[in-house]
Amino acid sequence: MESTKRLKWGIMGPGIVASNMANALIESPNNQLSAVASKTQSKAKAFAEKFGVKNAYSYQEIVNDSEIDIIYVATIHNFHFKNAKYALEHGKHVLIEKPFTVNADEARELVRIAGEKNLFLMEAMWIRFIPSVLKLKERVVNGDIGEVKQINISYGSIVGPVYEERLKTLSLAGGVTLDMGIYAISFVCYLLGEIPTDIKSMSRFSDTGVDEIADYMFRFPSGCLVNICTSYNLKMRSEAILYGTRGYIEFPEFSAGPGFTINIHEGTNKVEESVYIPGNNHVNRFIYQVEEVTRCIRAGETESRIIPLHESISIMKVIDEMRKDWDFVYPFE
Ligand SMILES: NC(=O)c1ccc[n+]([C@@H]2O[C@H](COP(=O)([O-])OP(=O)(O)OC[C@H]3O[C@@H](n4cnc5c(N)ncnc54)[C@H](OP(=O)(O)O)[C@@H]3O)[C@@H](O)[C@H]2O)c1
Repeated sequence: MESTKRLKWGIMGPGIVASNMANALIESPNNQLSAVASKTQSKAKAFAEKFGVKNAYSYQEIVNDSEIDIIYVATIHNFHFKNAKYALEHGKHVLIEKPFTVNADEARELVRIAGEKNLFLMEAMWIRFIPSVLKLKERVVNGDIGEVKQINISYGSIVGPVYEERLKTLSLAGGVTLDMGIYAISFVCYLLGEIPTDIKSMSRFSDTGVDEIADYMFRFPSGCLVNICTSYNLKMRSEAILYGTRGYIEFPEFSAGPGFTINIHEGTNKVEESVYIPGNNHVNRFIYQVEEVTRCIRAGETESRIIPLHESISIMKVIDEMRKDWDFVYPFE
């Protein structure tokens, strides 16, 4: 592909998240949304009409359209592996919605296929690309608050009716960890540039048999301790707080907070200085990950340095380990 050619995208699974992505692709001058595919033809057609997309396809048709460069897998969790594998096997680059897959075995297999075929593959972990989080990472790496020794995250809300089915249904890989907890896990791994080595967790199960509330405790190789509380049926104060030896950072409105406050105390109990750093995030949070995908593919890179494939696999392994402790197996595993 020539370096300045617009990337042609196809979407599999025209649901809620696909609409946000369609708007991001339409807004991007480097990309073109060429096709949409659904298991239900009328859904693909309606989506195509709404967003002015040329082709409304079946899954078979979309992977066989030679004009399409990349498939965005926007189906619900339990279909990510199957749909992404199908697209890769047909020679398409792939961007998969989070969670990358349901477990690490599936993740490893997708990475293997993409590697074998020299295709681009990435988890659409948009939180790693938004300006507020990029600036936050910069401040952490710069040592603005000294050595980060502890991070607390609470991230929970009462899911609306449109999300209820996929979040609460066991056979659809429901549960708070794969849906919401994964943002917090990926966020801390990104900020610290590490994967936790000690993992402790507890969860409370819904009457539908999925994790509805979960608490995770991690220790990272650097020594940093992390507490994460998440829930899909409790309104929690959504925030991340990073405690360092020189100060602490408050990142409210997790996961897409527009900015954060750095508080400096220089190792005392008195805050001497508080500065708010705005992130100025775009209203469509997916724009940034789209630009990264385009940049990587144009440069001939098969993965992103912001969310490398080994990290997507490692994060699935962390979740596998916690689920093992909870005796939590999905029926299709
Ligand atoms: N919603 C968000 O704000 C959001 C944000 C970030 C990431 N995500 C991720 O994006 C993915 C999709 O989420 P969503 O909220 O957009 O899902 P959704 O609208 O409920 O469904 C998306 C697609 O998944 C398939 N699907 C949904 N329910 C199904 C069922 N019961 N049986 C068979 N297929 C079903 C359908 O594909 P077909 O039309 O082809 O049948 C549907 O078009 C999830 O993995 C989620 O974690 C969502």
